[in-house]
Amino acid sequence: MKEDKFYANDLAEIIITEEELQERIKELAAEITACYKPDEELVMVGILRGAVLFMADLARHINLPVIFDFMDVSSYGKGTYSSGTVRIIKDLEENIEGRHVLIVEDILDTGKTLKHVIAMLETRRPASIKIVTLLDKPERRVIKHLNVDFNGFEIPDKFVVGYGLDYAEKYRNLPFIAVLKEELYS
Ligand code: PRP
Repeated sequence: MKEDKFYANDLAEIIITEEELQERIKELAAEITACYKPDEELVMVGILRGAVLFMADLARHINLPVIFDFMDVSSYGKGTYSSGTVRIIKDLEENIEGRHVLIVEDILDTGKTLKHVIAMLETRRPASIKIVTLLDKPERRVIKHLNVDFNGFEIPDKFVVGYGLDYAEKYRNLPFIAVLKEELYS
């Protein structure tokens, strides 16, 4: 880690480099493109705030007409563990009835957030709902039957930051995924 970087003393290790992220994101975009008919319109629903960087990079490699929308559903406070309570802070702007929806998440952890988001969006009768998550922490799953269509990387149960993921709102702008030093949050 370069010593002139603001995070140099905060990170234990980089687990996914910028190059690995970008390479995998291109593959995911190709998989997603192949799942729809040519020219079929996709409503990408980014879950704020963590999904912003991933959605921006993923979208530019998807070869379909894409609409951007966002929801803000927060289940984490400033700590590292989910309370299991999902608060809807910002709803969609788009009417998704009859349209193809792709939910874009940065990380799938317990699965509680996605379970709530999917249940809510299904009531609006979209043509389809698919889910893409950049990271998956299977060891932490509480909701067992979540059907995620596209996943970038499986990661171990460590507290990770960067590329959209934060600790107390910090580190979202790192271009890679890193493990935060334990002493910073324990
Ligand atoms: C994080 C992450 C997912 C959710 C995953 O969001 O972005 O939305 O938690 O956890 P789960 O599978 O246990 O529900 P967070 O509430 O921290 O908001 P943020 O994206 O603004 O950081």
